[in-house]
Amino acid sequence: MGWANAKDRGEIDRQHPTQKPVKVMEWCIEMTGGIILDPFMGSGTTGVAALKLGRKFIGIEIDEKYFDIAVDRISKEANQLKMDFEDIPEWLKENRSKK
Ligand SMILES: C[S@@+](CC[C@H](N)C(=O)[O-])C[C@H]1O[C@@H](n2cnc3c(N)ncnc32)[C@H](O)[C@@H]1O
Repeated sequence: MGWANAKDRGEIDRQHPTQKPVKVMEWCIEMTGGIILDPFMGSGTTGVAALKLGRKFIGIEIDEKYFDIAVDRISKEANQLKMDFEDIPEWLKENRSKK
């Protein structure tokens, strides 16, 4: 799976010089279990991917600029998931919570 030219192809809105596509990080996460820890979070791609997969995530980033970008991206993903969840009928939400 290549991503070197992903920005040129308009596939990602790059906010960090080494930002990976979310799909690549989803693929990595799917090979693991447990809580996801990214001690070099950058723009938060791993956090976004973890949320999309319903996984818990801990991120660490030394650069305040990238930390803020990561928090913004991860918060937007969390809000999107919340909205998606609110669109789900009550009976289905109850079934999903029992799993
Ligand atoms: C390769 S980038 C991560 C890019 C990320 N995978 C993405 O998609 O945006 C590595 C990040 O680690 C951060 N970093 C470097 N040293 C660190 C440290 N000691 N503690 C926390 N973060 C650090 C850098 O500021 C940089 O944003």
